[in-house]
Amino acid sequence: MKSVLLLGGSGSIGRQTTQVLNGLRDEFLLVGISLSRDYDYNLSVLNEFKSIKFCHLREKSELKIYKNKFPNIKFFHSDSGLLKIISSSKFDIVINALPGFVGFLPTLKIINVGSKLLLANKESLVVGGEIVNSLLKEKNASITPIDSEHQGVYQLLKKKDKSEVDKIIITASGGALRDYKLDDLVNVKASDVLKHPNWNMGKYITIDSATMLNKVYEIIEAHFLFGFDYSKIEAFIERTSNIHALTLDYSGNMDSFSSSNDMKIMIFHALKDDQFSGNKIELKDYKLLNIDEKLYPLYSIRYSKLIENPLNRVCLVSANTISSRLFLENKISFLDLININLEYFNGYYKGKPNIRNICKLYYKVGKSINKKYNY
Ligand SMILES: NC(=O)c1ccc[n+]([C@@H]2O[C@H](COP(=O)([O-])OP(=O)(O)OC[C@H]3O[C@@H](n4cnc5c(N)ncnc54)[C@H](OP(=O)(O)O)[C@@H]3O)[C@@H](O)[C@H]2O)c1
Repeated sequence: MKSVLLLGGSGSIGRQTTQVLNGLRDEFLLVGISLSRDYDYNLSVLNEFKSIKFCHLREKSELKIYKNKFPNIKFFHSDSGLLKIISSSKFDIVINALPGFVGFLPTLKIINVGSKLLLANKESLVVGGEIVNSLLKEKNASITPIDSEHQGVYQLLKKKDKSEVDKIIITASGGALRDYKLDDLVNVKASDVLKHPNWNMGKYITIDSATMLNKVYEIIEAHFLFGFDYSKIEAFIERTSNIHALTLDYSGNMDSFSSSNDMKIMIFHALKDDQFSGNKIELKDYKLLNIDEKLYPLYSIRYSKLIENPLNRVCLVSANTISSRLFLENKISFLDLININLEYFNGYYKGKPNIRNICKLYYKVGKSINKKYNY
C-alpha cells in the first residue's frame, strides 16, 4: 500500500484524483488532503476516506467546526500549513494539484522530504524550473507529470532513448475562442471564455487555454521536465484533444500519444507509473494546425528570449493570476488581460532568481496590478 497526500483536493484535478483513488483502494491509501471552502464536498471526502489522518484547510476560521467533527484528524491551515502537512508524515506519494504560484514552495518541499512528486501544478516549473531541477538533481529524484501532454511525452520517452528524439510536439485545443475573429475579442466576456470546447477544468486554466498562455506554460514545463531546448519543442492546435503529444525522431519516425480527453486517465497512469501506450489512432485522420499569434498574442512569449529569465516568468504568472481574477470580476476586458500579461512579462527585473526574490517579486507585481487596475 502506498500512502498518498493530495494537495488541491477540492479542485478539478483534485476531485478527479479522489475518484481514481477510490477505485484503487487496494494499492493507494489517501492519508492526507488539502481542501478549500466547499463545506459539503469537504465533509463528503472526509467521510468517504476514513484513511485520512491529515487535512489542510484554506481558511483558519473554519478549523473549529472540522476539528469537532473529526477529532482523529490533524488539521493545518493557510499557505504555511501547506508546507507543514507535507512534512507531517512520510507520504510515499504527494500529488500537487494546487493552482498557480501557491504550488511552487510545496513542490520544493515535497522534493526535499523525499516523497514521490506527481505534478499537475505547472506554474511551479514556470516560475522556478531551474531551482526545481537543481533540487531534483541533488536529491536524485524525478517528477511524474499529470498534465495530459506531458504524461504523453513521458510515456513516449519511456519507449525510446531520448537521444533519438529530435523534437517533442504538444497539442492545444485552441480554447473557447478558437472560432472567434480577431475583431470579436473586444467584446469577449468571462462567460464566453469559460465555455471550453473539450475539457472541464478549473476557471484559471480555462482562461489560460483561451489566451493560449496555457500552452506557453506547458512548453516551459516540457523544457524543464524533459530537458529539451525550446527550439526542439513545438505546439499545434489539434481540435479534438485526442492527440496529446508526439515525438519526432532524427530517423524521421513519428510516434503519437492519444487517449480520450479525460484527466482521470492521466491521473491513473501517473499514480501507477506504468507503461501506457494510449489509444491507437490513424494520424492521417487528424489535423495539426498552426497557432495564430494574431488571435493568440500571448503565444508570442514562447519565442521571446526573456522566457529564459525566471524573473520575467514569475512576473508573467503573477500578472496573469491577478488579471484573470480581475477579468472574472468584470473589472477589466479580455484585451486588457492580454496587454497586462505582455506588459509585465516584457518588463526589466533586477536581482538573483533565488526563492526569496521569486516570492518577493510575485507579490510585488500582484500588488502593483491590483493598485493600478482594481478600480
Ligand atoms: N483541471 C485540469 O484539467 C488540469 C489539467 C492539467 C493541469 N492542470 C493544472 O493543475 C493545477 C490545478 O488546476 P485545477 O483546474 O484543478 O484548479 P482548480 O479547479 O481551480 O482547483 C484548485 C483548488 O485549490 C484550491 N486553492 C486555491 N488556492 C489555495 C491555497 N492558497 N491554499 C489551498 N488551496 C487553494 C482551490 O480552492 P478555491 O476553489 O476555494 O479557490 C481549489 O479547490 C493548475 O496548475 C492547472 O494548471 C489542471
